[in-house]
Amino acid sequence: MNRRLSISVLFAAALAFAGCDKTSSDQIAVGEFASLTGKEATFGQSSHEGTVLAVEEINAGGGVLGKKIRLLTEDNQSKAGESANAVNKLIAKDAVVAVLGEVASSRSLEAAPICQGAGVPQISPSSTNPKVTQTGDYIFRVCFIDPFQGTVMANFAKKTLKAQKIAIFTDVKSDYSKGLAKFFKEGFLKAGGEVVAELDYNGGDKDFKGQLTAIKSKAPEGVFVPGYYTDAALICIQAREVGLTVPLFGGDGWESEKLTEIGKEAVEGTYFSTHYSPEAGGPKAKAFVEAYKKRYSGKLPDAMAALGYDSAMILFDAMTRAGGTEGAKVRDALAGTKEYDAVTGKITINQDRDADKSAVILQVKDGKFSYVETIAP
Ligand code: PHE
Repeated sequence: MNRRLSISVLFAAALAFAGCDKTSSDQIAVGEFASLTGKEATFGQSSHEGTVLAVEEINAGGGVLGKKIRLLTEDNQSKAGESANAVNKLIAKDAVVAVLGEVASSRSLEAAPICQGAGVPQISPSSTNPKVTQTGDYIFRVCFIDPFQGTVMANFAKKTLKAQKIAIFTDVKSDYSKGLAKFFKEGFLKAGGEVVAELDYNGGDKDFKGQLTAIKSKAPEGVFVPGYYTDAALICIQAREVGLTVPLFGGDGWESEKLTEIGKEAVEGTYFSTHYSPEAGGPKAKAFVEAYKKRYSGKLPDAMAALGYDSAMILFDAMTRAGGTEGAKVRDALAGTKEYDAVTGKITINQDRDADKSAVILQVKDGKFSYVETIAP
């Protein structure tokens, strides 16, 4: 091989290598950003596993518009600031045609203005704070929002727990927590209940005893903790330690096997609302549970896994209906999603680019999440 030829071969190889990250004639590049490591690692890992399963299934069936989907995943390490970096890279360097993510509302909110500004559709699988999709017309989600979830838990506290006086303990570092606390409070007051204490913590704190003692002094009949699983587990442990024995309950942020791993007997009997239970659901949900178990060595999918799967499938459906991957076309097709038969239920994207869906309530029993009921919107 002469020198010139070998250089051009090398150059072509480098191009091909760089180019394999981009949408090419036979591939469509789709970006994903997730908390694969760090404080909320189980959120990102579950959602990623569901997303990967969807991509593998669609590719096995021939892909989308005759092209294979190439999924490019960035880890934001559960850290503030990293989602913006991840999504900037996915859009500017990898030229993805759409972005999937995130689970946590604060991190979806970090990415949304970037996707909106670039005209790249973003679909959050499971961020429930209303502000996420209010960022703009390129931002979608495939789950319900917290005004609904808050009302569900307010009614649950009032009617099922028969609590009249409730305390709320909020993570002020999280948009999700602040929003859910607010909507829960509105719903609980509307149901005729009383909020006797409202205290704050910062996600990642280790000592909650001061606030929990203050809560105990107000003698609530239940404590609503709209936080994420690590903090929630520690709060349950320390609540019991300070002698606060009334029911503790939360929202979807509690859903992780880490809740029971950390909380052990202190989380027994607690309740939380979420999006999906592998114990409930139609044929589509059953098929998904089987496929997921087969792909991930017998593991049961949680809500984030199911919603990660649905977010990817909704995107592929929209691209197919759009007949192309151009941002505006995919956006319009996403907005037109109607009665899509998803794992987590039928998905119709409403005028706010959210999905109107049912919530389920689970209870921790013998270290497992046991299905209690489904609440329709
Ligand atoms: N809804 C949470 C948020 O918006 C994230 C979450 C979704 C957590 C699903 C658990 C299950 O931040």
